[in-house]
Amino acid sequence: MKILLPGGAGYIGSHTAIELLNAGEEIIIIDNFANSNKKSLEAIKEITGKDFKFCELNYLDEEKLDKVFEENKIDAVMNFAGFKSVGESVKNPIEYYKNNISGALTLLETMKKHNVKKFIFSSSATVYGDPEKVPITEDSKTGGTTNPYGTTKYYIEQILKDIYNSDPTWDICILRYFNPVGAHKSGLIGEEPRGIPNNLMPYIVRVAAGELKELSVFGNDYNTKDGTGVRDFIHVVDLAKGHVAALSKLKKEGKGLFIYNLGTGKGYSVLDMVKSFEKATNQKVPYKITPRRPGDIAECYADPKKAKEELGWEATKTLEDMCRDSWNYIKSQNK
Ligand code: UD1
Repeated sequence: MKILLPGGAGYIGSHTAIELLNAGEEIIIIDNFANSNKKSLEAIKEITGKDFKFCELNYLDEEKLDKVFEENKIDAVMNFAGFKSVGESVKNPIEYYKNNISGALTLLETMKKHNVKKFIFSSSATVYGDPEKVPITEDSKTGGTTNPYGTTKYYIEQILKDIYNSDPTWDICILRYFNPVGAHKSGLIGEEPRGIPNNLMPYIVRVAAGELKELSVFGNDYNTKDGTGVRDFIHVVDLAKGHVAALSKLKKEGKGLFIYNLGTGKGYSVLDMVKSFEKATNQKVPYKITPRRPGDIAECYADPKKAKEELGWEATKTLEDMCRDSWNYIKSQNK
């Protein structure tokens, strides 16, 4: 199959590109390097020993996108071109709604025009808002998102449901990611947030590397085992493999709209993460307790049973694997 990956040079896109190439699929990456760089494309080739087509373009550019579909016989699309910073989305909502929603619509419209109807969408556990219960199953209530980034994911899910209802010959798979962390074991690709990181793991690695003084633990008065927030951290390579499993399902059965949680099913606290990082890397992570971060929830972790039963996929990497690989990436970048 020939799979188009908008945003394929980014963090999750590049890891998925590797797993698709390893599984024998053909890929075409389009990217405008808004939040990624060219060297990840070289890294994908080096890691897999395989080549692929690349087009530098913004997926909002209808004309250029149309040309890509005209010149290539694309069978399926996985969309990794969304912006993903919660803080940035609060500051720049127009930019977020435009890139994420208009981008998805441009892509879907172009797909429809060229009769390409297999679509895998990168959604997020953020669509569950503050969950009524954990572990979270796919049929839990969605909505109640707390920031524009999360709302774009929620709206796009709704758009996909409406598209499927209007034309059930579409094959759509919505993957709700929990908290992706870690990096490819080669140290060649990983997460590179712009400026000071907002997310936990990128912040921890920079504290360990001496680039930031200490971690602020946002609140230790939640109703959790040690009072700090609990999340379902999932290794990005496990997550990438989840996309290959989703593609197999669309290839085999198709004709449906499917939704899966991609998580480990295990909740770890912020302090678990600090301890695990120190153990896996032998580095100290100084921290202080600070007030809660507005918009944060106490606990969020997946019930991953549906993906296991229907996709035959489950996460296999441990929290220590995630910490070791994130650290390995930063070390190799700072060499
Ligand atoms: C957020 C988004 C999620 C998105 C994810 C990207 C929401 C509500 N959440 O998740 O959709 O997919 O980022 O990975 O939209 N923490 C600290 N100190 C820090 C940073 C974080 O204590 O410096 C704590 C937080 O309070 C939280 C946990 O670490 O309890 C995880 O935070 P973070 O990595 O930012 O992810 P989420 O907020 O869970």
